Amino acid sequence: MSRVKMKAWRFSEFGGPERMKLEEIAIPQRGNGEALIRIRAAGVNPVDRSTVSGRFDWIGMPHVPGAEFVGVIEEIDENREGLKSGEAVAVNPKIFCGKCYYCMRGEESACLENRRMERAPLIIGIEGDGGWRELASVPVKNLMKIGSMAMVEACTLPVDGATAMHLSERAELKLDEFALVMGATGGVGMFLVQLARLRGCEVAAVVGSDDAGSAVLEFGADHAINRTKVDIPSEVKKLTGGRGADVVFDPLGSATWKTSIASLAPMGRYATCGILTGGTAELSLLTLYSMQHKIIGSTTFSRKDLAAVIELMGRGKIRAPVDSVYPFERLPDAMKRLDEHGRSGKVMLSISNH
Ligand SMILES: NC(=O)c1ccc[n+]([C@@H]2O[C@H](COP(=O)([O-])OP(=O)(O)OC[C@H]3O[C@@H](n4cnc5c(N)ncnc54)[C@H](OP(=O)(O)O)[C@@H]3O)[C@@H](O)[C@H]2O)c1
Ligand SMILES: [Zn+2]
Repeated sequence: MSRVKMKAWRFSEFGGPERMKLEEIAIPQRGNGEALIRIRAAGVNPVDRSTVSGRFDWIGMPHVPGAEFVGVIEEIDENREGLKSGEAVAVNPKIFCGKCYYCMRGEESACLENRRMERAPLIIGIEGDGGWRELASVPVKNLMKIGSMAMVEACTLPVDGATAMHLSERAELKLDEFALVMGATGGVGMFLVQLARLRGCEVAAVVGSDDAGSAVLEFGADHAINRTKVDIPSEVKKLTGGRGADVVFDPLGSATWKTSIASLAPMGRYATCGILTGGTAELSLLTLYSMQHKIIGSTTFSRKDLAAVIELMGRGKIRAPVDSVYPFERLPDAMKRLDEHGRSGKVMLSISNH
């Protein structure tokens, strides 16, 4: 390789997009068991916003965010896990030891290596630099082939697609069930709609406008519920003959908690992987046991979840929900777009070869 420097978006003080600086920095040294990846696309996700704004206040500065990225292998040792230079790969951001009780059972999402288990996922982009740069050196065991899939589309999978897969597995959806998706136009929501449909459920998607309703119907939802026009629990009861939803997927937290619980059928499950609007909620134990509800937590995913969504997208069973694609140089604009309500799907960065 002739170049010794690369471009990277970094910040040295917590804040918003205004803190991000495009800098020329040294190309990372490839560590033992690692491959050097030329990054071609990256997601701009709520977790990255949290990284920049200071939710993970232990991270070292300067820091390159970016938990979701795909690219092409630039350098790798020979005969490593069937991979070679020039191959297109997704980077699984989940850091896992491969040896603990959970990893041995294929449940890397619960890897005991994470000493901050209750506060943060152990992922590339929080622990160490992420993908908002031209090149990254990452453990070979975190790579998954993506074949000839388009880079930006494949890049919707290593955080949002795989997270939705894991959450929908944890919720144990059944063929004849009714699923309600809160935040359905979000990156996670658009995948949840598709996966719940694939698992045979009737799906209602909660959106913020009629235009957004058209978008979720196009991604396979049976019903779009405009949260600005109707009372969600009443609407769900109407759609289910008075019963309620068997599963409510709600990655939004405080703002939607009460509505989600009120929308649940007897024996229904509330399933969460996020707290976009806040992390506290008041739980009525009386309602919980009287209605025989279950509350299901889920975070990140395991390798099998990422492998499954790569396979499903490769076979055309799920589609990439992309709202907008920004060139690498316009990262601050992409971050601003992430903050806007009314998006349909994900904000992506395209990183060309410089
Ligand atoms: N634990 C994990 O491993 C993991 C992985 C991925 C994501 N997450 C978390 O999951 C959450 C969702 O992520 P995402 O990428 O899907 O986010 P996103 O793309 O920003 O989508 C957010 C969705 O929520 C809706 N929304 C926002 N505020 C709302 C409110 N007050 N009431 C009702 N709907 C509201 C938005 O609709 P409008 O645009 O119409 O407002 C949009 O549909 C985030 O907190 C993220 O950090 C967790
Ligand atoms: Zn482990």
